[in-house]
Amino acid sequence: MRVALGVGGGIAAYKAAELARALLDRGATVQVIMTDAALEFVTPLTFAALTGRKVITSLFSNRGADEVLSSAVEHIHVAQDNDALLVAPATADLLAKFAHGLAGDFLTTTYLAFTGRVILAPAMNTNMWLHAATQANLDVLRGRGHTVIEPETGLLACGTSGPGRLAEPGRIADEVVRLLMARHGLAGETVLLTAGPTQEALDPVRYISNRSSGKMGYALAEAAALRGARVILVSGPANLPVPAGVELVRVKTALEMRDAVMGRLEEATIVIKAAAVADYHLREVPAEKTKKTASGWMLSLEPTPDILAEVGRNKGDRLLVGFAAETQNLEAEGRRKLEAKNCDMVVANLVGQEGTGFESDSNAVTLVMRTGANVAVPRGSKRVIAERILDQVMTLRQAPGRTS
Ligand code: PMT
Repeated sequence: MRVALGVGGGIAAYKAAELARALLDRGATVQVIMTDAALEFVTPLTFAALTGRKVITSLFSNRGADEVLSSAVEHIHVAQDNDALLVAPATADLLAKFAHGLAGDFLTTTYLAFTGRVILAPAMNTNMWLHAATQANLDVLRGRGHTVIEPETGLLACGTSGPGRLAEPGRIADEVVRLLMARHGLAGETVLLTAGPTQEALDPVRYISNRSSGKMGYALAEAAALRGARVILVSGPANLPVPAGVELVRVKTALEMRDAVMGRLEEATIVIKAAAVADYHLREVPAEKTKKTASGWMLSLEPTPDILAEVGRNKGDRLLVGFAAETQNLEAEGRRKLEAKNCDMVVANLVGQEGTGFESDSNAVTLVMRTGANVAVPRGSKRVIAERILDQVMTLRQAPGRTS
């Protein structure tokens, strides 16, 4: 476990020394990064003595030309070399900088370059903590899938009492260990994921499709890769960046998606089908553009292959997660699909309304489990929903008596 510990400039900075000790006790290596403001509260020597490593204090100051050159890319090495970026105390100023992508010093540039688990332990005056600006910044950061370890309530250094006190260092260290263990929980698994819509041609210029953006499936791909899985993402047309470490297979039609999924099934230990596959297509696509006529255009569409059902029939001991996009009867429809398609879990989500389902950055789902349980996951960013889905996947993975 390699932890980059960012120390912000608040009175609680002295507790970061205890936190570094607690992380070392739990077997982590700790690379401390201090902001200029943190240096006003505690000396780098304290952390260097505890961790046995040079403490990083600044991007450029007090360095010779060679050192400046190497330090200009050092934040990239720190970002690549660590499993978690833990910031404690995370001040209101740092939360705002992270939320808005400001990168004026070593800690904030490292944050932008970091692709691993980000854990924030804020500490500040109660009014600053409760301020709408701070809470809005926290919403943005949680939406990116970062973990916020809430401050505790008690007497603060400013003499007032309320929420804002840095969580107890032992508790923060335990949470970091728990999250990093969870991160590696999918190591050794190959997750075959589908995402996005399919496009079914009507002629060389026209097609039918649906409103899927791919956001849900790409969020799952990113979260699964961060948990240590090998991820194969079979994606219909989507305008999204490919998450780091994810192998992308681009397809357009339902038939292409079917062939890509069945062609890679042997490699997979977990299959998750978040794509919105067109249910109908034109079997014979005309070679020429269909002319516009006054009498209209009658189309005779045929069903596409049901990929989820085919995977269900050939499932072996793989774990199979389907989705259900519904406008009503969420749980009943989810359970019907779970039984009919031989799934272990169905992620049922409401579509056709703001804030969930297609295109939205957020979602709210019910996880219909083969155990008979229904797990409601309240509205959150698709990245956070992806984490909750994978938590349940891992629970099923560990449960005895998996169906095949
Ligand atoms: O992409 P976003 O904009 O982020 O939106 C996310 C989402 C709404 C697309 C996603 O959360 C979702 O619900 N995906 C499934 C959409 C869907 O097609 O649902 P369905 O109830 O019609 O299909 C049920 C399941 O069968 C799905 O797992 C689907 O991938 C699969 N299916 C459907 C048809 C077909 N021919 N083959 C399939 O495998």
